[in-house]
Amino acid sequence: MLGSAAGGGFPQWNCNCRNCSGVRNGTLRARPRTQSSIAVSGGDERQWALVNASPDILAQLKANAVLQPARAPRDTAIAGIVLVDGQLDHTVGLLMLRESTRALRIWCTDPVYADLTRGNPIFEILAHYCGVERREMRSDGAEFAVDGVDGLRWRALAVTGKAAPYSPHRESPVAGDNVALVLRDGASGRALVYAPGLVSMDEPMWRAMQGAACVLLDGTFWSDDEMIRVGASAKRAREIGHLPQSGPGGMLEWLEKLPAGCRRILIHVNNTNPILDEGSPEHAELARRGVEVAWDGLEIEL
Ligand code: MLT
Ligand code: MN
Ligand code: ZN
Repeated sequence: MLGSAAGGGFPQWNCNCRNCSGVRNGTLRARPRTQSSIAVSGGDERQWALVNASPDILAQLKANAVLQPARAPRDTAIAGIVLVDGQLDHTVGLLMLRESTRALRIWCTDPVYADLTRGNPIFEILAHYCGVERREMRSDGAEFAVDGVDGLRWRALAVTGKAAPYSPHRESPVAGDNVALVLRDGASGRALVYAPGLVSMDEPMWRAMQGAACVLLDGTFWSDDEMIRVGASAKRAREIGHLPQSGPGGMLEWLEKLPAGCRRILIHVNNTNPILDEGSPEHAELARRGVEVAWDGLEIEL
């Protein structure tokens, strides 16, 4: 787990909500967190896939020495990059990787590719530096592999969510704007589901979750009106593509229905979310339900 916070990180630079000010001045029992990203290997620690490239990527690389094996004057253990959407918190970090000695190999869906060449032309900009070798990722569950990262089988499932605010089709979503990833370990056959942006559950997603040994799911907001209540925004969680944890039909109800052996972890946690406060009743409720809150540096072995 390179970064477990949502866009803005925790604390967010300009935010004085109870959580941000509390973690900033040390009065809140909470860990700071960087923005949403994970690194995945199939068992060989010299080969990693970066899933999403957060604006905090440089700090995340520094904090995870395994990603810098130093076999050559310029080196990285990141063999490929997989994007689940085109949101800024998942793509701005690509610009920080421009010194790469070879083109960045990036797996993304067609709508995300379109957004990253037009609405926010990061790929066009990178063409003037290391370049991008884009690999098509279908959002219909077709299996793919990330070259150079052995021992893993990948699938992407379209989920309902939102394209980034800059996207020409922000208000008219298409399949593939957001995907969940299903990663299967080639040796054990065990699966992990990764979905940092998820606003509703459909049949393929629910089936994938039920077959997983571990789920890393959208933990952005505790309540639908959280941003309104702290005065940060006029928008509800669901309106911006995130299923809140509490309330009817919320994430906790879904997690409750998963098979007992499944490890449940909330990721992409917004800085306003009370679950970040380890002394909060919401944090205690998660503990009671066996639901974990991701933190930067968490290692998961399937
Ligand atoms: C989101 O997950 O809704 C976005 O990343 C928000 C943002 O761009 O800050
Ligand atoms: Mn986000
Ligand atoms: Zn805040």
